[in-house]
Amino acid sequence: MCGIIGISSNKPVSANIISSLKKLEYRGYDSAGIATLFEGEIKEVKSEGRVDTLEQNFDLKNLKGNIGIGHVRWATHGVPNSVNAHPHSSHNVSVVHNGIIENSTILKKYLATKGHIFKSQTDTEVIVYLITENLKTDELEEAITKTLKQLHGSFALGIVFKDIPDLIVGARRGSPLAVGYGPNENYLGSDSYALKSMTNKITYLDDGEFCIIKKDQVLFFNEDGKKINKKILELSSDEASYEKGDFKHFMAKEIEEQPNTIETGIKEYIDKTNSEINIYNFPWNINEINSITLIGCGTAYHSCLMAKYWFEELTQIDISIDIASEFRYRKNRFKKDNLYIFVSQSGETADTYAALDLCKKNNMKTCAVVNVIESSIARDANFVLPIHCGPEIGVASTKAFLGQILILYILALKLGSLRNEINQETFKDKIKDLQNLPSLIEKSLLIDNDIQAISSTFNEAKGSMFLGRGFSYPIALEGALKLKELSYVHAEGYPAGEMKHGPLALIEDGMPVVVLAPRDSYYKKTISNMQEVIARGAKVLLITNKSKDEIVSENIWETIEVENTNDDLLPFLLTIPLQKLAYYSALKKGYDIDKPRNLAKSVTVE
Ligand code: M6R
Repeated sequence: MCGIIGISSNKPVSANIISSLKKLEYRGYDSAGIATLFEGEIKEVKSEGRVDTLEQNFDLKNLKGNIGIGHVRWATHGVPNSVNAHPHSSHNVSVVHNGIIENSTILKKYLATKGHIFKSQTDTEVIVYLITENLKTDELEEAITKTLKQLHGSFALGIVFKDIPDLIVGARRGSPLAVGYGPNENYLGSDSYALKSMTNKITYLDDGEFCIIKKDQVLFFNEDGKKINKKILELSSDEASYEKGDFKHFMAKEIEEQPNTIETGIKEYIDKTNSEINIYNFPWNINEINSITLIGCGTAYHSCLMAKYWFEELTQIDISIDIASEFRYRKNRFKKDNLYIFVSQSGETADTYAALDLCKKNNMKTCAVVNVIESSIARDANFVLPIHCGPEIGVASTKAFLGQILILYILALKLGSLRNEINQETFKDKIKDLQNLPSLIEKSLLIDNDIQAISSTFNEAKGSMFLGRGFSYPIALEGALKLKELSYVHAEGYPAGEMKHGPLALIEDGMPVVVLAPRDSYYKKTISNMQEVIARGAKVLLITNKSKDEIVSENIWETIEVENTNDDLLPFLLTIPLQKLAYYSALKKGYDIDKPRNLAKSVTVE
């Protein structure tokens, strides 16, 4: 999951490559590099660290050339350093690559027998030498077709050639790649976001395809090297959503945007006048669906878990959930009456995409709950439910989580109603409650002072635990993931009732434990579990909802109260303090909040 950019123009390209690379840093940021073609030579610069470091290390303004490729890396093969940074070049060919070449070890042996000496530890260098070899005997298009057939695994590639200096080749298998069209120049990019400041005219490559990009022409080919035609899409312009505005970090902005995320989701899916849910063009007869499997990774997986509780509450449908990286390799029993729902913010997560692909190959019914509607998952699923929350730039998912669970909740309500599994009065009440949710989230956001004070304790501790039961359990997992992802402190999410089966042994004097205990049907049970950890020395941060009833427990370290609503909707409100806790913990530590170490926003490798 690296970022790729390529520009073929009638003017110097380095400045635009640099600004696009900065946009692509959400895909990886451990090293960066650029190669341009100038006066019959490949000029290559690369360094460890961010694009800023590359700019500090080299005089990039004077990097000449009207054709160039650039890369930001998230290391898979070989440590992040300047040697392993992309591009990788031979005397004639320079390549940037996103993905993994699975047969690189075998190919390395073969290429060594041809006299190639490998400089890096990457799998990418085999692509450089394979193309170099194939160009000795074949014309460009044949050489590319042949090379792509020799590669196993996933890739998106950008390639320039010293001896064919007027073009860039792009190729895709498994990793996303887009082509953009501008005045007297054309582009290649990992996604439309990287190209948006230059163009809103985009074509997405499909798996197996490659393209040749010149400043005034773009040609597309299928995996057998035959020319094909592809559609040009016009994207809407929403540049402002890509700016931080007055916020210090994208994450802070995205947390505060959540009332709007929910408001938009409601506007898209709820008919307020008739208290009805609009899900148009649902392609299946609802009675043909007897079970649902929800699949995702990371935060999106937590959304699936959340949805399981709601579907079980509101429908009689059998629900299972799965982590995409597990699902894709298991011996699944595919059933015709099962609906497979893929949840993903980016719509490009390699494991989730592979799980979707597997279902499609088995002719299953597939539905995508995604944010990026131009993404591979959105394009390939039978049916798409967009979450409409706008670009999410911070690596830690916040507003997309609320957006995902909102749409999944709405879907559960709709299916329950269509199948007559909830009565119409309850259905209408729940829709009414939903409409108050944006303002309740807005009020629940006003907790910064309390959370800031609490966050130091989490930073100073060896580790922490996040506990919840029922609807609060997925939120506990999400809270723990946010804290470890941003603050690099150990945090575990657990079902509160499971503590006594082992994890209780971890509790020691002063250990911070977050207990999610809203006044729902699990409340009393959770409070008992909370008492068990307090008795063993835990410092409990209790997160509950406002109520006139007293909390029946002593020795609670801190309490945060979110607004009150019906039990179904409390998970939305409980999430807010946990997002803020992770944010302020990382802020106090001075960590890079929008780009935590070792991670990337879009995980396009498995
Ligand atoms: O784009 P996706 O929703 O498919 O991404 C899935 C996970 O990689 C993502 O949610 C990840 O866990 C987040 N960084 C968590 O904050």
